[in-house]
Amino acid sequence: MSQIRHGVNGHPPGPHWWASWRPLWQWRHDRIAPVARIMREYGDIAMCQMGRLHFYFLNHPDLIQECLVTRHRSFKKDRYYDFLRIVLGDGLLGSEGDQHLRQRRMMQPAFHRQRMQAYGETMARYAVHHRDKWTDGKQVDMAAEMMELALAIVGKTLFNSHLGAEARKVGQALEHILPMDDRYVGPFGEFYRSLPLRANRRFNAALRQLDELLFRLIREHKKSGDVGDLLSMLLLAQDEEDNHHMTEKQVRDEALTLFLAGHETTAIALTWTWYLLSQHLEVEERFQHELDHVLQGRPPAPADLAKLPYTRCVFAESMRLYPPAYIIGREATEDTALGGYRVPRGSQIIMCPYVTHRDPRFFPDPERFDPERWRPELVEQRPKFSFFPFGGGNRVCIGEPFAWMEGVMVLAAIGQKWAPRLMPGHAVELDPRVTLRPRRGMRMTVHRRETSPAGHGDAAQAGQIVQDKV
Ligand code: HEM
Repeated sequence: MSQIRHGVNGHPPGPHWWASWRPLWQWRHDRIAPVARIMREYGDIAMCQMGRLHFYFLNHPDLIQECLVTRHRSFKKDRYYDFLRIVLGDGLLGSEGDQHLRQRRMMQPAFHRQRMQAYGETMARYAVHHRDKWTDGKQVDMAAEMMELALAIVGKTLFNSHLGAEARKVGQALEHILPMDDRYVGPFGEFYRSLPLRANRRFNAALRQLDELLFRLIREHKKSGDVGDLLSMLLLAQDEEDNHHMTEKQVRDEALTLFLAGHETTAIALTWTWYLLSQHLEVEERFQHELDHVLQGRPPAPADLAKLPYTRCVFAESMRLYPPAYIIGREATEDTALGGYRVPRGSQIIMCPYVTHRDPRFFPDPERFDPERWRPELVEQRPKFSFFPFGGGNRVCIGEPFAWMEGVMVLAAIGQKWAPRLMPGHAVELDPRVTLRPRRGMRMTVHRRETSPAGHGDAAQAGQIVQDKV
């Protein structure tokens, strides 16, 4: 008997219920391959059913737009966010409805252009400082290096904490917290969490440690007033509609949300970019040429963002192939419809930028790394949601401008001086968990560029500035 259920009874096509358990079971071990298989096999919208639970898979930009934008009121974040809410409380990532709207309104000024300029200067300074610690031929795990740099940047821009002394503690606590998602999500999650297990004790201790640290930083910031970082902005934020200020608990939730959402994703995007550049030397050459031509050996600055279009295209193309947030999920809060099909309340909606970004209808020869795809005239021809690494609609990533600025500043500062090469024998493999990490990191050797930038003294000086300030 065929395992394919064609679109009948108002349902989109997909495997019959007795064949649905397989991809859903496989998903526990591999979060991309089974999703890709369903999307490629059944088309733009597919459905798997397990008991009363319906899973809808969307693989067309119009359907993704329908879910994230046109009908967003019929959906909330999916069940994974139940776990994030344990950690992040009512922070922007997991809050819903009016509360989300108000928090978003209050946080938006922290990402205004003027603030971005200041963050951009910090990003460039920290990137120069980081690259100047490397020596020619040094072997590094680029994933760990980018994580350390992104952590330091977010530590400084968020908490005004020098070179991540505090930020590192938060990072370590999160390493005990985040891997618990598998156990805490699902029907037995709450029961598991109540058991007197070592893993639970470690989780609770790490959460307490985070709280102590964050509340201390908040109290210190309250005393010192506006020091130009994100935490100051959160403390100053006021909702103009009802003069509401955030409580300390709300500031804690938002600060931790920004910290969590703001470092790993960018670090991963940068890691994959270095990998891709090392495998495409003609692209790397053009990238280096742009840096040398525009920067003339001086360190990058926020004003260079607009002058480095190719670098931006390289970063975009890297996020097309390796979107750090490779799955975006929703849950229907009411009976609704997508693509003309009925979607019952409680259905889980799965969108996968990793798969849609590799759809040959929108990106011919999709596996090829080609930053030329990002020429404005080509972008205009594609549907908006053929590329959605930052999501879309009212829940679009609030840190998107921050991520572009950081991506370009870090690529420029490091690419100006170093050409990283993959270490022979290092097998590059995906490890799709919360984000799209490379399994076993990214072992690379950093080689000093042959045409070392003229006026490198300036850059060394910028590195000195960081050291002076820490
Ligand atoms: C390359 C880097 C980044 C990527 C790929 C990324 C991706 C995303 C995506 C896909 C979403 C939407 C999730 C959904 O709709 O379910 C999101 C939301 C969010 N991101 Fe980012 N992000 C990045 C960097 C950042 C940075 C740097 C920050 C903060 C400094 C940040 C803070 C947030 C927050 C607070 C939300 C929740 C927004 C809301 O629901 O209103 N992200 N991000």
